[in-house]
Amino acid sequence: MTKTATPEPLLSIRNLGVVYSTSQGPVHAVSNISFDVHANEVFGIAGESGCGKSTLIRSLLRLLPDNGRMDAGLCQYKGQDLTAMSDEAFRKNILWQEISLVPQSAMASFNPVHRVGDQIIESILAHRDISRAEARERSAGLFDVVGLQSDLMNSYPHEFSGGMRQRAMIAMSLSLDPGLIIMDEPTTGLDVLVQERILRRIREIRAEIKSSIILITHDIAVIAEMSDRIAIMYGGEVMEQATAVDMFENPHHPYTLGLKNAFPSIRDIGSELISIPGSPPTLVGPLTSCPFAPRCPFNLDTCHQANPESINIGTSHQVRCIRTADAKQFRKLAREKSTWRS
Ligand SMILES: Nc1ncnc2c1ncn2[C@@H]1O[C@H](COP(=O)(O)OP(=O)(O)OP(=O)(O)O)[C@@H](O)[C@H]1O
Ligand SMILES: [Mg+2]
Repeated sequence: MTKTATPEPLLSIRNLGVVYSTSQGPVHAVSNISFDVHANEVFGIAGESGCGKSTLIRSLLRLLPDNGRMDAGLCQYKGQDLTAMSDEAFRKNILWQEISLVPQSAMASFNPVHRVGDQIIESILAHRDISRAEARERSAGLFDVVGLQSDLMNSYPHEFSGGMRQRAMIAMSLSLDPGLIIMDEPTTGLDVLVQERILRRIREIRAEIKSSIILITHDIAVIAEMSDRIAIMYGGEVMEQATAVDMFENPHHPYTLGLKNAFPSIRDIGSELISIPGSPPTLVGPLTSCPFAPRCPFNLDTCHQANPESINIGTSHQVRCIRTADAKQFRKLAREKSTWRS
């Protein structure tokens, strides 16, 4: 699971925020996000529905809807400042070429009136000076990588099952040899066997290619299995960030503990599933307290009065909580159902 990360990050994000204008007021969907993605690593981002995962990556890729606005202290890819780049240069040189996306709704991402293979071929031809025959050969190779027969290139999207479309989208994301592939919920909505097959395929691809992957899912078990490092999001912020091993052996944030309880884990077979009572914050207006405080069984008055800064508790482990000194005790208490009673 672990590969040595290079010291110079591939992608560096500092203090990224996204605000949506709505009739209820500004929705702070993403706030104060900072992380690095290194070469040859899988960086997992997990969190409940609505915590801002898709907003975060859409802002990175300049795919926000018109009512969304991104702010970033720093957004660097291979040392290049992405925020200083024009939309035209970004679309020409970064999107797909350097950073590709398997979108959350991959089902709807192919144009229904064109053959799937042709759509991949066109995308290659738009960016590479090669012949159609070479692009076709490359597409067939990509179909092979994702485990689809090359004759399926002649099919239309509606002739594919959900799992096949998802794999074709992964083939598309690989088509220009990007340095970073972002996969937004690549297995959500698929049946368990298909999910398992796609995850296996992503693992195989990872062994074959040099690209890094940002893997987004609400499923903490999938993240644990696939990632080198993990960020846990809640209320638009990263609550905890650590290596996968550290996150599972030495978790500190009460939300991480709650999220772990709520999902079946391959590492804790037989452990009881306990859900976190309550619901996520609405995010209208900026955060003035810890977003998790209302649902946190370990909250103090101060948790409701100020939003804590992220603190380092190890070389590559950060936690946004003022009670990290009590984490050992919380880990024990978090396994008891009575702790999470609303
Ligand atoms: N266009 C929009 N306008 C206003 N609010 C939005 C818009 N898109 C998303 N939001 C809000 O922003 C927050 C984050 O949404 P987002 O889709 O990024 O979450 P997510 O973590 O990807 O959720 P899921 O797991 O369901 O995909 C939510 O509160 C959502 O309602
Ligand atoms: Mg999403």
